[in-house]
Amino acid sequence: MDSTHFRTARIVGGKPAPIRKWPWQVSLQVHKQHICGGSLISKWWVMTAAHCVYGHLDYVVSMGEADLWSSMSVKIPVQDIIVHQDYSVMRTIVHDIALVLLAFPVNYSVNIQPVCIPEKSFLVQPGTLCWVTGWGKTIERGRSSRVLREVDLSIIRHERCNQILKDITGRIFTLVQEGGVCGYNKKGGDACQGDSGGPMVCEFNKTWVQVGIVSWGLGCGRIGYPGIYTEVSYYRDWIIKELSRASCWKSLSFLFLSLCLVLHLGILVTP
Ligand code: ARG
Repeated sequence: MDSTHFRTARIVGGKPAPIRKWPWQVSLQVHKQHICGGSLISKWWVMTAAHCVYGHLDYVVSMGEADLWSSMSVKIPVQDIIVHQDYSVMRTIVHDIALVLLAFPVNYSVNIQPVCIPEKSFLVQPGTLCWVTGWGKTIERGRSSRVLREVDLSIIRHERCNQILKDITGRIFTLVQEGGVCGYNKKGGDACQGDSGGPMVCEFNKTWVQVGIVSWGLGCGRIGYPGIYTEVSYYRDWIIKELSRASCWKSLSFLFLSLCLVLHLGILVTP
């Protein structure tokens, strides 16, 4: 891969953000160290990337503060993790999605709120303005950020994104398939290591909807290189199925009552 764009790489290219602006953003931590991002989808559940949690359990979810070192953040240990059954990293990363069950439900506040999951039929239009947030590296070869950062992206559908990445890498197999979606910022804004599992959200009719989960990229913030996200709408049925299964096991039928499930195709087509 060419390295000529390292210098332009700079949440790369974004700016610090208050948590009350992104109150569903969480940090997945092991021994007080930030590992990955995630998003709160109900009082009990956090959504993240499979590659963040595969093979681990001893996570603590930290929420409610933009500063990772703040003593005010709410920390809840993880009780269970459900990784997508078809998650795989052969050739390319697919089905990079996981659900994390908290040990006890979180109390919502101004700083802690769930994000909405789109309908299955919802196809975000190419060119839609969205945002990605996280505590990941601020440059490709840099360090994680202590404060939460945000950057705006424009959506690229998986078909076109796949072509772009194939052209860049010269690979002949599919790199981004259905279930993936991309985000790109022409000034070099991007997610980076440490942002994985975190949300890419877009605002539709005054409601913030999580369209993507940070999954992977070729370097970070390179001009012409889109970032790749798990497309949340594609996994909506899987999410609901796993949540209801879990609530059945634990006979906690209220587990997903507060899940913010809104949005129909008709109201979501952006100009
Ligand atoms: N896989 C990375 C992580 O574990 C996220 C990479 C996203 N990269 C990008 N250029 N968008 O944190």
